[in-house]
This record gives sequence, C-alpha cells and structure tokens, in this order.
Amino acid sequence: MKNTLLCLLILFTVGCSQPIKPTQQTLQTIAFGSCNKEYEDQSFWPLIAAQQPDLWVWLGDNIYADTDDMVLMGNKYHQQKTNPYYSQFIAQVPVTGIWDDHDYGINDGNKTFPMKAQAEDHFLAFMDITEDAAVNQYPGIYRSQVFGTVPNQVKIFHLDTRYFQDPLVKTPKGSAKNYVAQPDGQVLGKEQWQWLQNELTQSQANINIIASSIQVIAEDHKYEMWANFPNERKKLLDLIVSSGANNPIILSGDRHLSEISKINWQGQELIDVTSSGMTHSFSGTDEYNRHRIHDLITTESFATLAIDWSNKTLEILQIGMDGQTINAHKMNLN
Ligand SMILES: [Fe+2]
Repeated sequence: MKNTLLCLLILFTVGCSQPIKPTQQTLQTIAFGSCNKEYEDQSFWPLIAAQQPDLWVWLGDNIYADTDDMVLMGNKYHQQKTNPYYSQFIAQVPVTGIWDDHDYGINDGNKTFPMKAQAEDHFLAFMDITEDAAVNQYPGIYRSQVFGTVPNQVKIFHLDTRYFQDPLVKTPKGSAKNYVAQPDGQVLGKEQWQWLQNELTQSQANINIIASSIQVIAEDHKYEMWANFPNERKKLLDLIVSSGANNPIILSGDRHLSEISKINWQGQELIDVTSSGMTHSFSGTDEYNRHRIHDLITTESFATLAIDWSNKTLEILQIGMDGQTINAHKMNLN
C-alpha cells in the first residue's frame, strides 16, 4: 500500500510509468523469518503483511524439499508460491533472502550435495531472480542488495552457508554436542570470503544486514551453528568489525526458536537476531545461550526491523503468530 501511494505521488508530480523498483526504495520496515513447511497452514501471511513491511527476507528452510529429485523440489516450491495466502503476500511485498539445508535439498547439507547447482536454479526462480542477474554467473546464492540512498541506505549481504560448507563431523551418541568443532573447516569458501570482504569494506550503507541461515553468535547449543567452525566464526566477526561497516546486524534462522544474541567483539556490540519457526517450533526447550538478551521464544514467530531514519533508531520486534510482540529491542544508529 505504501508503494502504491508513493508511486501515485510520483506519478502526479514527475510522471512515473514503472512501479518503483525495491532497490530504489528507502526501507522502513523489514520483516523476516525462516523454517516454513510448505504443506502446513500458511494463514499467518496476512498478519505479517499487516506490519506493512517494505521487504520480506527469507532466512532459509523456506520450504522443506529434502530431496535430490528436482521435479519434486520444483513441485514443492510451486506449492508454496501458489498458496493463496503467500501469493497474495508477495503481490504486495518484495521478497528476497537465502536458503538453508532443507530447501537446499538435504538435512544439514554441505558442499558434497550433488544436486546443488540444480537446487540453486529452483531457489533463484522462487526468488524471482532473473537469468541475467549476476548471481547466475558463479556457483552459490551469495549476493548483496542495496536499498535507498545514503544517509538512509540499507545493504543486505545474503550469505550462502551451504554450497561451500565442509561436512559436519558427528560426535559419538550421547555426547554433549552433536558435532565436533572443526577449526580448519570452512563455511563460506574462498571466493565467497573475498566477495564478502570487498562488499563489506566498500559498503557506504547506513545499516548493513548480514543474513546467515545458521546462527553466528550463539555457541552453547549442540546443533548447527558457525561455532562448529570456530575459526570461520571468528573470521566473520573480525571482518564485520574491521570492515568498519556502519550499524551491522546479523539475521539468522534454522533453529525452530527465536532469540536475540549479543556479543561484545573487539569493543563493538554485535547482534544476531534469530527468527525461526513459522510453521513449527522447538517447544519445551529451555536451552542455554550465554549471549541471549530478552526471552527465548519457542512458539511460531516472525520478526521485523523498524527503522526510524529521522530519530536514528532501529527496533527489533519478535512477533508471535497470534500477533503479540514477544521481544522488543531498540538500538541507536551511529
Ligand atoms: Fe536448517
């Protein structure tokens, strides 16, 4: 609705024949979430639309494909895209995002998945990314997007945590952790690291959003997380700080729970907003996270970033599928 009003205003004043491209738009509200079973009830989309987001960011497990059968994967994406609630939502709200393991094609998937190139084609089509887009020129779905102009500019770094990830190494049954920490293991791979370093260092954006399917800051649980590759986690946090990127904020999914993690890294406070479980959640868990601020959410939820450019604040809202705000965290922008 806000887009339509803006275009009508521009039509009236300067004559606009095209809808405003989302990349030219100043973002005020960004909504995001992850872990969505395409075959489950999707009636929450009007609730997300009611937040009037300027953008929706998928953080992975956008569907549960879990298959190397690419016809089946295509059918599952089709089911999501033609869902009446979702199709109405994407008619109003621009969509972007990343994948995680289940939409990549395999639980806890990594670089060894043989159908990854074909799965990428399905993902890009689902995101309405056209064949002439730069992301088609290289393996993986990593890419950046810039919205608005300085001093009200947002840049989103979409990380690919699957295509180049080394296989996880399982611990013996009954261990405290499911996976062995691999100091030498990689998450992003050489080219993606080079890309991220360049893009972060050169960013002029006033807010820099790093979208990672798996959690970056949380390190106490036993599931998938960057901390399973401790040197890669350190490298990422080091890079975010050393790049000098303005107001960095990490978004993650995957966990079927939602929480906000905060860490002081080399004198800079970094936040990882985990929003996970749109159709299902990790009910009953009370897992420990030394970095958590606010409540652990174990019911279905989504989240928003509400940017107040004039007052230079950003508010994170984590909202249950009943419409109730569970966590609110306000930050001052530099
Ligand atoms: Fe996942």
